[in-house]
This record gives sequence, structure tokens and C-alpha cells, in this order.
Amino acid sequence: MDRINGSANLMIVSDLDFTMVDHDDPENLALLRFNALWEAYYRHNSLLVYSTGRSPTIYSELRKQKPLLTPDITIMSVGTEITYGESMIPDDSWKQYLDHNWNRDIVMEETAKFPDLTSQSETEQRPHKVSFYLDKGKAPNVMQVLSKCLVKRGLDVKIIYSNGIALDILPQAAGKGRALAFLLERLKADGLGPLNTLVCGDSGNDAELFTVPEVNGVLVSNAQEELLQWYEENARVNPQIMHATERCAAGIMQAIGNFSLGPNLSPRDITDSMFNRKALTPSHEVVMFYIFYERWRRGEVENPEQCIPNLKSIFHSTGNFVHPSGVDQPMHQTIDTLAKVSGDKKGQDFRVWVDRVSFAEVSLGSWLVKFDKWELSGNELRGCLTKVLMNSKVEAPNHLSWIHLHQTWLDDLGGQKDMPWLL
Ligand code: GLC
Ligand code: MG
Repeated sequence: MDRINGSANLMIVSDLDFTMVDHDDPENLALLRFNALWEAYYRHNSLLVYSTGRSPTIYSELRKQKPLLTPDITIMSVGTEITYGESMIPDDSWKQYLDHNWNRDIVMEETAKFPDLTSQSETEQRPHKVSFYLDKGKAPNVMQVLSKCLVKRGLDVKIIYSNGIALDILPQAAGKGRALAFLLERLKADGLGPLNTLVCGDSGNDAELFTVPEVNGVLVSNAQEELLQWYEENARVNPQIMHATERCAAGIMQAIGNFSLGPNLSPRDITDSMFNRKALTPSHEVVMFYIFYERWRRGEVENPEQCIPNLKSIFHSTGNFVHPSGVDQPMHQTIDTLAKVSGDKKGQDFRVWVDRVSFAEVSLGSWLVKFDKWELSGNELRGCLTKVLMNSKVEAPNHLSWIHLHQTWLDDLGGQKDMPWLL
């Protein structure tokens, strides 16, 4: 969050399962399109917030399974845990606040009296969240009776039903909406309040996100019955909230356009050659290049021979590339290798995306760009911390020339020096 000094342009607060992540799309295409959009146009001045029902344990499992970008802020366990930055520093004041009028033991005692409630796994039981499975048909009645029992015991709790199966019991002050309201207050107090906020969800525990004042909201097309019902009863006439016609991350991009919150055409949706386009920023350049690189290796670039002179003009003639193995080679050699691998991943699962793109002007017209580059080939995922020194060309200031490229493994693969990795 340090990179933003002043108001964030856009803050996206999104649920993960079946909102940002489409578990029915094994190729993750909509997510990859969103990623490219975010890194090219928003990362440097906006905030990405995930708001999930998952506990920290199963949230990190999802991060390993899906090409999710690194968020600035993570709200987990249905708005009961807020953490900041990549190192996920917990917000202790939020925890303390939730302790008020909360007694987990009483919740356990009372719920034990309901045989229809089946406890969820141990990882999903959190200090301010007790979670069960409950059949849809039984839910209304159980929720009503349980709520009365807890009131009788002097507790002020929130009972939320999601996905037609999950029941969460939280302190009244918790939940995704309350956590977001708290976060917005905190950001405003620090002078970091976003100019626009877009909340995105698909199930029952997301409903409160749409009640936070001054936010735009999108229910993705595939929203669950309980959220659709809430929408019909509470939000249908509210122009700030829409039900997308697109699924998951594609629905989020649709909403960015619908509410005019900024660019919403993913660089992945542009099929003409990157060499015909000008980079708007160094981030945009990097995103466009790695989309090109993915297409190049997937054999999706038309007339590959004609691209070689263009590649030579992007990479500075005296430039060099430090491979993550430590080998330093002249850039023209890298281009020769690149020419040979055109289409080598044809028909295979091969995807490339960038995360955490940042840039700084180190001297007039000279940029240091940093990002994580990820490459998925079949089941193998590899990441590299990448630094690029770029120069605007004097004759064409919107065209950037790559002078120096340096990569280091993000994981502990350092020993495997002979890995087939290009750039
Ligand atoms: C996630 C959590 C689960 C919770 C559900 C609905 O799936 O893992 O504990 O009940 O979200 O909020
Ligand atoms: Mg969901």
C-alpha cells in the first residue's frame, strides 16, 4: 500500500469463490483477462481487496491453485479478519472491536442443541466465526430458532446463510459489509480513501457489501439464489447496484464499464499486434509484451517471421538479459532463442501473467519496472521477480525500449539451473 500516496483511484472489493474465481472454468480465462486489465491500468494507483469467507488456511490454498493477483488488503473469514499488504499484517484493532459482546463458548453451547447443524472443518472455525453446514430446506427455521436462543443468552450475533449450504455465526459488528465500512473509515482517516469503490459478490455473505454507503456493486451473472432474492427485495431499483450478464471476473469488468469507473477492455481482448500499439505506461508495456510472449509460444501470432525486426526494435541493441540461473547474455541472443520457440507450446496449457507491476522514473524518460512474472506450463508453475530498465525513445516517446532485464526465481528453484526458461 505504500506505493499509493493519496486517494486510490478505484478500490475493488471482491469475493473470491465464484466471483473473482470461476471454478467452472479450468482455463481461468476471465481471471487472466481481469489480471491483465488490473496490472496494465489500475495496479499503480488503485487498491485490490479480496473479501472471502475462507479462513487464512484455505485462502492460501486457493492462491496456490489459481492465478490470483496479490491483493493490497485481504478480508477473510466473512469479514472477521482484516490483513494488510503482502505480508498480511493483521488489523488488531478490528479483532479487539469484535470482542465486544461476543462469547464463542455460548455460541458452541447453543448450537450443540441443533442436530441439523454439522460442523465445518477445524480450519474454518475462527476466533470470531463459528461455521456449519445446513440443508437449504431446514435453514429458515433453524436460523430463526437459533437466533432466539442466542438473544436469550444475551448475545448479539449475525447469522448468515451462503451458497445454499453454509451457515456462519459472527459477532453482530462483523461481516463483509461492516469490515469494509471499517476499512473505508481507516483509509479516509489516513487520506487514502478511494475515489470509487466497486464491490463484487455472488452469495449470501456478500449481501452486506452492497449496503455500504457510496459504493457501486455488481452481482455476477452466476449469483446464488439467496443473493438474487436479497437483490430483488432490496436493491433492484438502486442504480448503483447491477446484476451482470457475465460470469465471475468477466462480470466485474462489465461493471467497471457500466459504472464508468475506468478502462474495462482487457489488453488480452485486443488481438492486433502489440507492435502497432503505443504503451500508455511502462506497466501497460509489460502486460502487452507478456501477452504477446504467451501467444508467440502458443503459436497464436500470425506471420511470426515479421515480428523479429519488431522485437529487435523493442529490445535495445546493446541491452542484456540476466537469466534467473545467473547467466548474463546479450539481448540479441535472447531474441534468437525466442525466434526458435515460436509455437513450441502449441495445443498445450501454457499461460503467462504478471503480478505486482510497479514502476518509477529513475531519470528523465528512464523507467525501472518491477513485477512478478508467472508462467504456467501444464501443471508446472514458475515465478520470477523481474526488473526491467526501459527508456522512452526520443523519436517516439510512447514507444519504450527495453535496455536491461534481470530475473530471479521467486521460489526455491534456484538450484535447477538447467530449467527451460526463456524470459
Ligand atoms: C467459505 C468458508 C466457510 C463459510 C462460507 C460461507 O466457504 O470457508 O467457512 O461458511 O465461506 O461464508
Ligand atoms: Mg462466493
